[in-house]
Amino acid sequence: MTKVAGRTAVVTGGGSGIGRGLALELAAKGAAVAIADILPENAEAVAREIAVMDGKALAIGCDVTDMASLEAAKQAATEHLGPVSLLFANAGATSFERITDMSADDIDWIVHANLLGVLNCVKTFYPDMVAARDGHFCATASTAGLLPSWIPYHAAYSGAKMGIIGMMLNLAIEAREHGVGVTAFVPHGVVSNMKANNARYRPARFGGPGEGEVQIPEGAQWHAEVKFRPAELVGKLVVRAVEEDRPMVISDGAIRKTFDETYRRIVYDAFDFADAFYAAEE
Ligand SMILES: NC(=O)c1ccc[n+]([C@@H]2O[C@H](COP(=O)([O-])OP(=O)(O)OC[C@H]3O[C@@H](n4cnc5c(N)ncnc54)[C@H](O)[C@@H]3O)[C@@H](O)[C@H]2O)c1
Repeated sequence: MTKVAGRTAVVTGGGSGIGRGLALELAAKGAAVAIADILPENAEAVAREIAVMDGKALAIGCDVTDMASLEAAKQAATEHLGPVSLLFANAGATSFERITDMSADDIDWIVHANLLGVLNCVKTFYPDMVAARDGHFCATASTAGLLPSWIPYHAAYSGAKMGIIGMMLNLAIEAREHGVGVTAFVPHGVVSNMKANNARYRPARFGGPGEGEVQIPEGAQWHAEVKFRPAELVGKLVVRAVEEDRPMVISDGAIRKTFDETYRRIVYDAFDFADAFYAAEE
């Protein structure tokens, strides 16, 4: 079991949507929470909500694509709230576009904000957990990574999110040797502000913030099974999974059938193809 009460947690992307849900639940359970977000005004708003609950919180402006910014966030969190033992690498940005319609900067941004952003958090916070033989690292992936063929026109994002799942499932093996927990969190549909605000999250070195909503390309409609769950409820689900040291938490079991069918069609077909090939050749 991972204890939450009395610990210091950092939630990246904690100023909105899922990250806000995580921060509120962690605070409700007695953790001191550092909300590290590229939009500091949103981090401050969530810190104020926690203060109203009589919780302990700190808002930090932070860009997860920038190691120096993460290092500064760790120092601020440690100084004001204590050593960080719970890390939620949740910040992310989406790319609902054909990859040929994306600029080179946008492709770099999506890979950095999602996959390398989580890796930067591992590099910044995980070694201290290992040294303390204590802590839990949870990273937010996506169904677009667990089941990449499910949503079209998401290649950069799907690749980055699948990478997060691989990183977390593998890190869990060595983390266990050090008494550290690791959880891959796979949201499916969660109410958030990503569609409206995504362009605002682009850091200066990838072209800077833009304006306008994410436009879903024609033919890439949401799968019929998506039910958008409240971020506050999903925050409770994820924190429970972390407390139980679960290696993976998925925000919705409704994708089970699609997952099974997809993997049978693509992965098992590839196994069968290889088996048949070697049977004929060897
Ligand atoms: N909402 C969903 O249905 C869904 C589904 C799958 C995956 N996700 C993932 O969940 C995570 C949270 O997204 P959300 O849906 O709550 O969206 P959101 O837009 O409401 O929140 C994203 C937060 O991340 C912050 N952020 C973005 N880039 C950052 C950076 N470089 N450094 C620090 N902070 C940054 C934003 O300021 C924002 O506060 C993301 O990783 C997203 O990819 C969400």
